[in-house]
Amino acid sequence: MSFRIQPAAPARPNRCQLFGPGSRPAIFEKMASSAADVINLDLEDSVAPDDKPEARRNIIQAIGDIDWGKKTLAVRINGLDTPYWYRDVVDLLEQASDRIDQIMIPKVGCAGDIYAVDALVTAIERAKGRTKPIKFEVIIESAAGIAHVEEIAAASPRMEAMSLGAADFAASMGMQTTGIGGTQENYYMIREGAKYWSDPWHWAQAAIVAACRTHGVLPVDGPFGDFSDDEGYRAQARRSATLGMVGKWAIHPKQIAIANEVFTPSEEAVAEAREILAAMEKAKAEGLGATVYKGRLVDIASIKQAEVIVAQSELIASS
Ligand code: COA
Ligand code: MG
Repeated sequence: MSFRIQPAAPARPNRCQLFGPGSRPAIFEKMASSAADVINLDLEDSVAPDDKPEARRNIIQAIGDIDWGKKTLAVRINGLDTPYWYRDVVDLLEQASDRIDQIMIPKVGCAGDIYAVDALVTAIERAKGRTKPIKFEVIIESAAGIAHVEEIAAASPRMEAMSLGAADFAASMGMQTTGIGGTQENYYMIREGAKYWSDPWHWAQAAIVAACRTHGVLPVDGPFGDFSDDEGYRAQARRSATLGMVGKWAIHPKQIAIANEVFTPSEEAVAEAREILAAMEKAKAEGLGATVYKGRLVDIASIKQAEVIVAQSELIASS
């Protein structure tokens, strides 16, 4: 391993990020009382252009008025290619209470995008004497975003999380699909006449996880559009968890419980991880670097793998 130690990602649960349009304040209380770890109040693509000013006012008021409990509270601003984003940042940081934790920056394409928002946020924080620094989360949802994913993850100490935004990503890449995440009908291989579906999101997800883990940022899977398809959502979430992502968005409340279930290590998985740790303790005491657990090899790398599961479980239990 490089002599540089891999930095830890923020130690907070991020199993489910629940989204709601800023133009629909009637659901804000429901969002606050949901079981999601993170709330994303949206100013971007779920809000029509004419509704942006009112959505900003709704969100600013709700940040202060609603009891958000222990949730991480984030607001998704508009992209840097729009005329809205600077007003989103200025109004939020000049007017909202310091209950806001994060700004989510969509459609980032390079580290300079983060630098621009960071400069504006920093100036307003100083001018207003805000003592709680705003954190950033970003969405990788363009060809440029995935091409520059590592410099984006490293762009600012404010960076906390990074999500894959499947719909805009597919459009930017020119992918032939209108689906938002999940299995794509035409992405299959043939063997002996039978179709086997593969995962077109895999490469982008793995690139995001690698960039995030290199720079101590939480990797998150984005939206799954078909909220009537619980099993499709669960399968997508399980693949993401297997790849190292810590959570997934919910665009409808029925997706929250599934995300929480998938991204909370199961009792069986934790029990097995603890058994592996115990087996390795015993092996070490006997002067061995490797041993056999349930008929398979476990060695010093297995300790780190098991520790990932135990640490995630303890983090969630303590939150
Ligand atoms: N958060 C909390 N509660 C929500 C919710 C959300 N995002 N979306 C719907 N609800 C509530 C509804 O108010 C309703 O509550 P009730 O039972 O007390 O009446 C209940 O959940 C069932 O809602 P349902 O009728 O199935 O959905 P809908 O037609 O009201 O809304 C969507 C469906 C998809 C338009 C809505 O869920 C939504 O706007 N999602 C977020 C979209 C978004 O933010 N996109 C940007 C990120 S991709
Ligand atoms: Mg998008």
